[in-house]
Formats: sequence, structure tokens, C-alpha cells
Amino acid sequence: MAARKAPVLCLGIESSCDETSAALVDSDRNILSHVIYSQVPDHQKFGGVVPELAARGHILAFEEVVRRALEDAGKTIDDVDVIAATAGPGLIGGVLIGWLGAVGMAQASGKPLVAVNHLEGHALVPRLTNNTGFPFLLLLASGGHTQILLVRGVGDYEIIGQTLDDSAGECYDKVAKMLGLGYPGGPVIDARAAGGDPTKFKFPRPLCGSVTPAKAGAGCDFSFSGLKTSARTIIGANNHLPLRSDEFINDFCASFQAAVVDCMENRMRNAMKDGRIAKAKPTALVVAGGVAKNSAIRAMLERLATEYDLQYAAPPLSLCTDNGAMIAWAGIENFRLGRIVKEPVAPRPRWPLTEL
Ligand code: KG4
Ligand code: ZN
Repeated sequence: MAARKAPVLCLGIESSCDETSAALVDSDRNILSHVIYSQVPDHQKFGGVVPELAARGHILAFEEVVRRALEDAGKTIDDVDVIAATAGPGLIGGVLIGWLGAVGMAQASGKPLVAVNHLEGHALVPRLTNNTGFPFLLLLASGGHTQILLVRGVGDYEIIGQTLDDSAGECYDKVAKMLGLGYPGGPVIDARAAGGDPTKFKFPRPLCGSVTPAKAGAGCDFSFSGLKTSARTIIGANNHLPLRSDEFINDFCASFQAAVVDCMENRMRNAMKDGRIAKAKPTALVVAGGVAKNSAIRAMLERLATEYDLQYAAPPLSLCTDNGAMIAWAGIENFRLGRIVKEPVAPRPRWPLTEL
């Protein structure tokens, strides 16, 4: 009997926002080590990520994070088959640091290098954790993006709908800032919403109801900037209330979150009616990106998946926000297809999934 081929071992590096992260993942879907250095505390006092500070933070953390990822797995760079790093999209200072570090390591060690699109890292992580097959319907919601995608294969994405203004994560973060709840806003609003009344305040459901079935993608776009405006208006109109009272904040968060979830449900239902989805017949409904941590969004999508008879795949919470394991996995998927760097790559602050 022929000996089984050893799995491919990948070192993945992420540095596109405020997490410096490195992980060793193999093609048998094992995460051998995973180190995440989060700069969240450094940015909290500014109410959001400060790009300059983030870039400095990555410089200081990079070497230690990579060294620990190798040590925790009991490996050296010689054991690694391929190095993968985020080459965009993201805050360009941070991307450059992680990417150039990876280029240096690849050159010094002679190992192949994969330039990973950060969004593809988020998109493919359910294949690492849930072994999800292609094609699948993906709601990708993070701090920078909100899109509904048909994922046909590695590097093969079709945008079914996307936000026309802010991303869902940005909206959560801005609304939390208005309430003085700190950064990042998503987790705290999610937690506060659990104890509040979702019918207390009237938030709009932007774009819901806009369906023109004749047009591909109609009814699948998002708009979140109106929710921010409503949040400001509601806070202004309730100035007479003790604004920081737990009851006010919980009810406000529950009402805001209900609006976000309703919009997402409406858009996903329209996506299911889209001719491209009907033709592709996805087998799974997948959620990814930082906002995929949201308890109400996860529950709504699980319900939809059951209703439409689709497998439901959501990564574990630790792999929803930015991390090196998802970059390592996307590196393995691209490496297996021979998509390695053959000439110098310029990292990109903007890099849509449709341009892989
Ligand atoms: O994917 P990610 O780590 O970074 C980007 O690539 O943008 O996403 C970060 C975003 C932040 O906006 C954060 O508020 C949001 O994910 N987030 C959440 C939750 N946890 C994190 N949003 C809603 N509910 C949550 N539980
Ligand atoms: Zn991300």
C-alpha cells in the first residue's frame, strides 16, 4: 500500500487591521498553533482603529507572534511547506508590515509564498472548520465589508449584493460610540441587546421592500448609514431620559440589532430568489467576518438554512474576527491550485473578491 502523503503545512500571517496573528495549519484541517496579538486596548481610547498606531503595533508584535506560532506547534520554518500572508484589502501600513515580513521569510527559507486576500480568508474558513463544499451562499460581514456572495470555488466569487454605504460592523461601532459603549461596538451591543426590548425604539429597515425581480441582484444590497442617522435622532429625542441608564441602553441596542437582523434576513431571502443562486444550487449557507459573531444574526441564518434545506456553517467565534488561521487555510487552498507568488506583489488597500 502506498504511503499516505504528508499534509501540507502552512504558516499564515494576518496584519490588515488591529490584530497581528500567525498560525500553523495543515491541509488535514488541523490548527497546530494560533497566536493572536490584539491591539484593541491601544485603540479603545480613540473609539476606533488609528492606522498609524496600528502599523507601529504590528512592527513591534510581528517577530514575537510568528516565533511563538512556530514554537507552540513545535516546528521550525524548515518544517513549513508554504508561507501565506494577507496582501490586502486593509489598512495599508499594517498589510505592508505583515506582507514584507512574509516575503523576507520566504526568500530566506526558499519556501513558496501565497498572497492571500483577507476577505477570501474570511470566506474560506468554514471549509477549515466545517468542511463546507462548493458552491455556497455567503454573508460576509465585517468591519470593512458587507456582501452577499455566491462562492463557486477558490478564487471564484460573484457578488449578489453589497452595502451601498457603511458596512454592518462600522455601523455597530459608530452606534456604540454614540452611546459611549466603547470600541469595538459589535460585541457590547450584542450583549446589551439580549436584555432589552426590540420594539421599544423605531429604527427603519433601509432598502427592505426594494425588489425588482427582473434585475439580477435587486433587493440584495444593504444600506446602514440610515440606521446611524436614526440612532442619532433617537438619542437626541430621548435626551430627557437618563441616557446611560441600563434600561435605555438595553432597549436601544435590542431595537437597533433587530433592525440590522431584519435587513439581513430580507436581503438573504431575496438572494435565495436570485436567478444566479437558483441556477448554482448552493448546498450551504455560510456566515463569515467579525459580525458573524453576532448571536442574533447567527440564529436568524440558522433558521433560514433550515427553511431552505441548506447546510448551515458558521465558524467558531474565535475564527470570525481577524486571525492568522484563516489566512493559513486560504494559503493552503491557493497553494494546492498552484497559486503562489511568482513575481513581486504590491499589497492592495482595496482588493475586491471579484479581482482575484
Ligand atoms: O472581520 P473583523 O475582525 O475585521 C475586519 O476585517 O473588518 O471585524 C470586526 C468587526 C467590528 O466592526 C466589530 O464591531 C464587529 O466585527 N463585531 C460584531 C460582533 N463582534 C465583532 N458585530 C456584531 N456583533 C458582534 N457580536
Ligand atoms: Zn476581517
